[in-house]
Amino acid sequence: MKEAIEQIYKELQDLKTATLKEAEEARVRFLGKKGEVTALMEQFRTVAPELKREYGQKLNDLKKFTLAKIEELKDAAEAASGPASASGEDLSMPGDSMPLGSRHPVSIVRQQIVDIFRKFGYDVAEGPEIEDDYHVFEALNFPPNHPAREMQDTFFVSTGHLNPLLLRTHTSSVQVRTMETQPLPIRVVCPGRVFRNEAISARAHCIFHQVEGLYIDKNVTFADLKQAILLFAREMFGPDTQIRMRPSYFPFTEPSAEVDVSCNICKGKGCNICKGTGWLEIMGCGMVDPNVLKASGIDPEVYSGFAFGMGVERIAMLKWQVNDLRHYFENDMRFLSEFSTATEV
Ligand code: PHE
Repeated sequence: MKEAIEQIYKELQDLKTATLKEAEEARVRFLGKKGEVTALMEQFRTVAPELKREYGQKLNDLKKFTLAKIEELKDAAEAASGPASASGEDLSMPGDSMPLGSRHPVSIVRQQIVDIFRKFGYDVAEGPEIEDDYHVFEALNFPPNHPAREMQDTFFVSTGHLNPLLLRTHTSSVQVRTMETQPLPIRVVCPGRVFRNEAISARAHCIFHQVEGLYIDKNVTFADLKQAILLFAREMFGPDTQIRMRPSYFPFTEPSAEVDVSCNICKGKGCNICKGTGWLEIMGCGMVDPNVLKASGIDPEVYSGFAFGMGVERIAMLKWQVNDLRHYFENDMRFLSEFSTATEV
């Protein structure tokens, strides 16, 4: 019996189980009805009376040791598999993480542009995307046969009457609506989606976004326009940014100009983003044509103003050097998630 007890101690000491099931099997093997320790306890009856005391003690110790060992094995197996709920799920398992969304790059840049002008005291105005010919063209001094009115540029919704409905080709229409309804002076930016019937390529898209601006007051001059654009450019592209203006033509402004900013990538030295020129075109602008003021009931003898308009995707391209416009419209998660850390002003 002595050897049998020692043998069991030895086995218990070396015993290793990986799972709860194995630990339970070990319990049955030693302490079950036909278990090894149970069998020894039964043999106790046959022990000589003078040895009963000694073996009673030994067997009790063995049973305690076995119970503790099995308990230890069960605890270890439980810890390894994590706490299980009553129905067997592992409640300690970390949840599936939900990827955080990010703002669309066009929204980020539009908000930055609007916030800069808001700081300068501009209000924000929005208007309908489906507009009439009057607000998109006629009130803006487009001559009757101006090519921009023709089908290749404009998506018409309904034609055949005097004031057809169309998808606005610029947000200047919102400026007209502002002049019609708001008291003077006016200082407003108009962000929004615009539509042009163009073939989609890396450089052109049939839908894009603009922020246009309008400032009307007494004694507004071209110098004010230049200053406003310079301040904007420096807020947007950095404090050392230079601007230059090239003469241009828009039916609704006179004089008109295109604005370039010094290339913030090569600092004006010339690179492939600015095509070696050191300058990047960012917007059109000019002094509001007196005909436009008159059309909205503003006296051009008393008031003058300037207007400007820029493409949001264009500014975004310059900011992030993403030079294919189509990326901004395809909603490819691989592209959009690049902007998850971009912050708004
Ligand atoms: N409306 C012009 C455009 O779409 C931009 C512009 C706005 C130019 C205001 C001059 C003044 O392209």
